[in-house]
Amino acid sequence: MSKFFALIPAAGSGLRMENNLPKQYLPLAGRPMIYHVLRTLCRSPGIASVLVVLAPGDSEWLKHDWSEFFGKLVVLDCGGTTRAMSILNGLKAAPDELSISDDDWVLVHDAARPCLSEAQLDKLMNELTDDAVGGLLAVPLADTLKRSGASNRVEHTESRKGLWQAQTPQMFRYKLLVDALSRPGSMRMTDDASAVEALGLHPKLVLSDARNLKITYPQDLILAELILRAQQKGEYGECG
Ligand code: CTP
Ligand code: MG
Repeated sequence: MSKFFALIPAAGSGLRMENNLPKQYLPLAGRPMIYHVLRTLCRSPGIASVLVVLAPGDSEWLKHDWSEFFGKLVVLDCGGTTRAMSILNGLKAAPDELSISDDDWVLVHDAARPCLSEAQLDKLMNELTDDAVGGLLAVPLADTLKRSGASNRVEHTESRKGLWQAQTPQMFRYKLLVDALSRPGSMRMTDDASAVEALGLHPKLVLSDARNLKITYPQDLILAELILRAQQKGEYGECG
């Protein structure tokens, strides 16, 4: 039986957030942002270990108490200059004690998506556990799409048929992920599925929803805070 591991790339500096503190540590619903996904992933009974990849010389991690994740959490300080590089370095640095085998699943989840719910995580794992390729959480595009020409004038309206927004976690088998990310060109790709697609494979899109948003700009924090507070109060049911 294949095991499941999670890997969180958390070596970015959050330039678009325009804050001196890397965004994964910004306060959110009473905790550093990364706490929320650590909690969700570490509490999942199906996940054997959660690897966090920090930037070398990260001076923020040790300022916080992570003891509640003891036993599940593996901290690696081998982040690279791009997201893909941080992930590849983390995969290669996974300690031998974890005994990760080539066919084990790795769920890569961005520290910048703190609102991932237990239901979304379980759905991804359940839908892909017997899949030949793997896949990712994603959401069909909801907005009308405009193609711009000169001076931000609309050239034409694009069809949104068949278009999805990629989220994380993205779930692939360990060896496939290492092979895909090791290819020249993969280092600048902004998600893992792109690297797998470049091998000629077709990752599966698993329906998620907009609550699993990515925090990129300061205004995203407001929405994430609302979603997390609502989750904490159990104000609404999880997505199916
Ligand atoms: N990441 C990483 N190593 C990098 C760059 C990014 O581990 N060299 C991680 C980030 O910490 C984040 C995830 O990849 O959890 C998604 O990246 P993004 O949202 O782009 O975060 P940043 O790169 O930190 O932000 P920005 O692009 O605005 O600088
Ligand atoms: Mg980035």
